[in-house]
Amino acid sequence: MKLSIKNTSQILSKTDLLVLFARKGSTPKLPKGVKVPPLALKSFKGNEREMRLTDATAGPAGRILMIGVGDKKQLDPETLRRCGALAAKKAEKTSSASAAVWFDLPSGRQTEALGQALAEGAVMGAYRLSDFQSTAKPATLKRLTFYGNNEFKVGAKYGQVIGHANCLARRLKDTPGNLMRPRDLVSEAKKIAKAGRHLSIKVIDEKAMHYLGMGSLLSVSKGSSEPAYLIHLVYKPKKKSTRKICLVGKGLTFDSGGISLKPGGKMDEMKYDMSGGAAVLGAFKALTELDVDAEVHGLIPTSENLPDGLAVKPGDLVTAMNGLSIEVLNTDAEGRLILADALSYAQEKIKPDAMIDLATLTGAVVMALGHELSGVMGNNQTVIDDLVASGKRTGELVWPLPMHDVHQKEMKGKVGDLRNISSPGAGAGSSTGGAFLSNFVGEIPWAHLDIAGSAWGAADRDYQGGAKGTGVGVRLLIDYLQQG
Ligand code: BES
Ligand code: ZN
Ligand code: ZN
Repeated sequence: MKLSIKNTSQILSKTDLLVLFARKGSTPKLPKGVKVPPLALKSFKGNEREMRLTDATAGPAGRILMIGVGDKKQLDPETLRRCGALAAKKAEKTSSASAAVWFDLPSGRQTEALGQALAEGAVMGAYRLSDFQSTAKPATLKRLTFYGNNEFKVGAKYGQVIGHANCLARRLKDTPGNLMRPRDLVSEAKKIAKAGRHLSIKVIDEKAMHYLGMGSLLSVSKGSSEPAYLIHLVYKPKKKSTRKICLVGKGLTFDSGGISLKPGGKMDEMKYDMSGGAAVLGAFKALTELDVDAEVHGLIPTSENLPDGLAVKPGDLVTAMNGLSIEVLNTDAEGRLILADALSYAQEKIKPDAMIDLATLTGAVVMALGHELSGVMGNNQTVIDDLVASGKRTGELVWPLPMHDVHQKEMKGKVGDLRNISSPGAGAGSSTGGAFLSNFVGEIPWAHLDIAGSAWGAADRDYQGGAKGTGVGVRLLIDYLQQG
């Protein structure tokens, strides 16, 4: 799909579908030369997400789609994001080859944010995973043009980039596990590094992991014929930056639980266990296109977790790069094992000013927060607060969970320094998971996002939803990085 952005002071170019917006109780302002049947205008109420499709009677547009934005005093980005998705979906449904989205509503100081949301929504709404069905037809919508004022145009430019990055993360996670193995995630990372400006990549293989002492990460891939990797992406902006941020994403391309095998029902959902890694890759795709001004490192430990004669067993002792020994009491708590070495590596080799990890770490966070929010905890209130604020701005909501001494105590080992699960019945599974990770970050300001619920299966919000991957984290991280 080819996207372009123009000013509403320009004449509308020929288009199959023209999308117009109106507040409740009003009718859309029509671009010059466009005429619609008066009855269609009259019966349109402008309720939020109300849609009316009508043929144009004159002008450069074939058909007109009116979308209502409701009567909220201040038009908000989330409404526009949803409207953008409705527009893209309707364009596809009406087999339009070209569509124009005409934004001409009074929106005050928020115009840029609204432009961004509308473009994000349209791009995210057009997402589909069709490559795998023999009957799949190519998308009909080939050209999408946004029209708005100058501020709107700036936002729409950002929104397009961020929308595409979200779709990348969704494609990676929706792709079946046999087609998105650790090595495939490595190729995807290399593609991003090659295409983007100021990007470089280093891939640490199992041999190098042995050398670095990453016994924790290595223990997880032992049961799989696919080797593990630690992907290290680096973005260095043109102007030397004073901030160095490290993003770490769990990249478990399939989690069977290992010897502590998961129940069979819905095990297929564990292809989403690389959603943290997908979020980091999506963020990297966007941050180079947006010329973010921070130095950003991205770490993705990637592996499969499978049972096998060579697999790590409950009771085995492994040693992480920072020297801490870990009793693996449950091989299904593997996310924290691969993150332990990635976080140790960041602490020792990268030494960032702040570090954020994203991981589908615990089923407990799905119980606590469902599929609409991510849990956050960490050792630094500022990083946590900043992520909560980014969550509010982007609609990728983030909710603080406790991480206290009791949770730290739960993770102390008997044979080794640590154990990878708490005692039965201790509860607070997300907090003990976070507490385990805190042993590998040292003094670096750090926050951990548990995205096991929010990464997939969210309620339908037009631009995402259903049982599929959400791409959560991409928009959140970009917003976080853009706040100087
Ligand atoms: N990948 C899972 C967590 C998960 C659960 C993600 C449901 C998405 C949906 C993780 O590796 C895991 O299995 N965690 C265990 C930890 C437990 C053994 C301490 C869990 O949550 O049951
Ligand atoms: Zn697991
Ligand atoms: Zn897992």
